[in-house]
Amino acid sequence: MVSTKDSQSISPRSNELFNNQWTLYQKILNNNYMGHREIYDVLHEFLITNFQKPFKMLELGCGDATFTAKALLDTSIASYTGIDLSKAALEIANVNIASIQCSKSFTEGDFSELVPKLVKTQQDSFDVILISFALHHLLLEQKDDIIAQLFSLLTSNGVFILIDVVRKPEEDRETYIRRYLDEVKKSWYLVTSEEYLMVENHISLNDFPETQQSLDSIGQKHNFNRFECLYYDPLDTTQLLCFHR
Ligand SMILES: C[S@@+](CC[C@H](N)C(=O)[O-])C[C@H]1O[C@@H](n2cnc3c(N)ncnc32)[C@H](O)[C@@H]1O
Repeated sequence: MVSTKDSQSISPRSNELFNNQWTLYQKILNNNYMGHREIYDVLHEFLITNFQKPFKMLELGCGDATFTAKALLDTSIASYTGIDLSKAALEIANVNIASIQCSKSFTEGDFSELVPKLVKTQQDSFDVILISFALHHLLLEQKDDIIAQLFSLLTSNGVFILIDVVRKPEEDRETYIRRYLDEVKKSWYLVTSEEYLMVENHISLNDFPETQQSLDSIGQKHNFNRFECLYYDPLDTTQLLCFHR
């Protein structure tokens, strides 16, 4: 089921923007420029090893869930809930997750608004909560607030898995963004100059990566029992972090 707002609310302009950005993001994923293949292999192994009994997963900012669907293959997933701002992405996610045998639901909306609602109703708890490349848009206090609430949505042995850009301890935001964009220029061979400008614009306006230490401190502050980094890429720009309840 895709629970969505009125489809008429998507204007032609925002549709066009979605299509342009979506096509570019697919190109980035298809060429593995953000390292999804390696990261989601690690996620797959983690789910197979740690969740042998049926488990419930919530994904915030799931996009089209292409890589999540691959990571869930042959796992014991019992139910999957995907939340995203984009109705169009959720419709594709619905198709991508179709091959996974479990109950599914997809909700269009802002997770900063939907998470407090889930906490308030206390109707659902999850063994795994995943946010992949969607938390770095928030400022530090907003990340802190969401992570605090995720703790109460997890089952007693549940885990919050964060896949995201992370800056080095000695780097400020500007230095990180410069380093990341230098790498984009150098290694994302198939990205055209026009597409590079879209990437640069998006990252400069929307990316607020934290350090691993800062994310660990947030976890400790909100009573998470254990924090571990299961993967970081060779360039040290991206990590897969687990916050164990
Ligand atoms: C860079 S894409 C990542 C998609 C996928 N999780 C991945 O790892 O490839 C970010 C996704 O998060 C969604 N998103 C960003 N902020 C959000 C929010 N506050 N609430 C819901 N979805 C959000 C966007 O619509 C987009 O689909």
